[in-house]
Amino acid sequence: MAFLADALSRVKPSATIAVTQKARELKSQGRDVIGLGAGEPDFDTPDNVKNAAIDAIKRGETKYPPVSGIPELRKAIAAKFKRENNLDYTPEQTIVGTGGKQILFNAFMATLNPGDEVVIPRPYWVSYPEMVAICGGTSVFAETSIDNGFKLTAEALEKVITPKTKWLLMNSPSNPSGAAYTEAELRAIADVLLKHPHLWTLTDDMYEHLTYGDFVFRTIAEVEPKLYERTLTMNGVSKAYAMTGWRIGYAAGPVALIKAMDMIQGQQTSGACTIAQWAAVEALNGPQDFVAQNKAIFQGRRDLVVSMLNQAKGISCPVPEGAFYVYPSCEALIGKKTPEGKVIETDEDFVSTLLEAEGVAVVHGSAFGLGPNFRISYATSEELLEEACNRIQRFTASLV
Ligand SMILES: Cc1ncc(COP(=O)(O)O)c(C=O)c1O
Repeated sequence: MAFLADALSRVKPSATIAVTQKARELKSQGRDVIGLGAGEPDFDTPDNVKNAAIDAIKRGETKYPPVSGIPELRKAIAAKFKRENNLDYTPEQTIVGTGGKQILFNAFMATLNPGDEVVIPRPYWVSYPEMVAICGGTSVFAETSIDNGFKLTAEALEKVITPKTKWLLMNSPSNPSGAAYTEAELRAIADVLLKHPHLWTLTDDMYEHLTYGDFVFRTIAEVEPKLYERTLTMNGVSKAYAMTGWRIGYAAGPVALIKAMDMIQGQQTSGACTIAQWAAVEALNGPQDFVAQNKAIFQGRRDLVVSMLNQAKGISCPVPEGAFYVYPSCEALIGKKTPEGKVIETDEDFVSTLLEAEGVAVVHGSAFGLGPNFRISYATSEELLEEACNRIQRFTASLV
């Protein structure tokens, strides 16, 4: 449509939302569909957090917030970074946005000029390249592989840095692969960054609290304090506290960048929902046992899914360190035929045929920039996961 902005031609709709939508449609037609596409915890927001929001409404906390966030939340964010990440940020160095998504968006909006490059390791969260494109920047993809657990190496990073690189976008634990970087792995990345002082890091730590076994979460400014001055550390309450619908995300970094993001936000939303901010204060300052309980549940699901997928013919599933996703390869099934004679040529064929044949909705890896793979979100009950994996096993066994 000629009326629409040219910038829209650079943007793709979200593949994960499309899969969720397709699964919903099939369900409404009466099909028995198990949706493993959505990226949100299936738990309810904890009661103490809900009650904090109700109390805020009753107290009349229903006015516009300060653009960067209510002082109580900015203080709670600074305290969280100190307590959990050993990072010293003052409340003035923090900003609250309408979800982590808006924080990322505003950071790019505030910094990207046409031609500026953002290095994004692939596989990546579907929204990253689209946000960069909307903000006029150029995404440059750094390669990872299943053999190194889908993690960016120093060599792969070094290869893609140019004088135009503005940001390295890190995401640990990762959506879609679940890969999380150890301190040593971050150290190797940091050593490359130290050699390129023009380059900043935006680290999306949204899944920080969802790591399993004895994995220890670290973030890059903590691992290399010399990068503190050129790092934006982003996080949020959506995944850790089952608060996806409350739309609160946050970040901390150098004051000049935070002020620029504040200016954009002031002309855009005037700040995140005041009531949801009060709920986030309680999430960050209140009891944290909810987080540990969920982590244990997610770990059990991860182990179940990984083990059942590795028993499916032609599927190879690495064990991810965190998040609630697995990212198995279906490479061995490319070229195989369904009993009806349909050839599986791509991972997109694999997921659409799986959905038709067995009613299991997953997302193809090529949507995340690396395939042939697919992403399963295990943020659903063990019972459904077991049934879904049984169906995947039956489906792959039927391919010839
Ligand atoms: C890697 C990653 N970053 C950011 C977000 C966005 O979080 P929010 O819901 O707080 O906007 C998501 C949500 O799916 C995500 O997977």
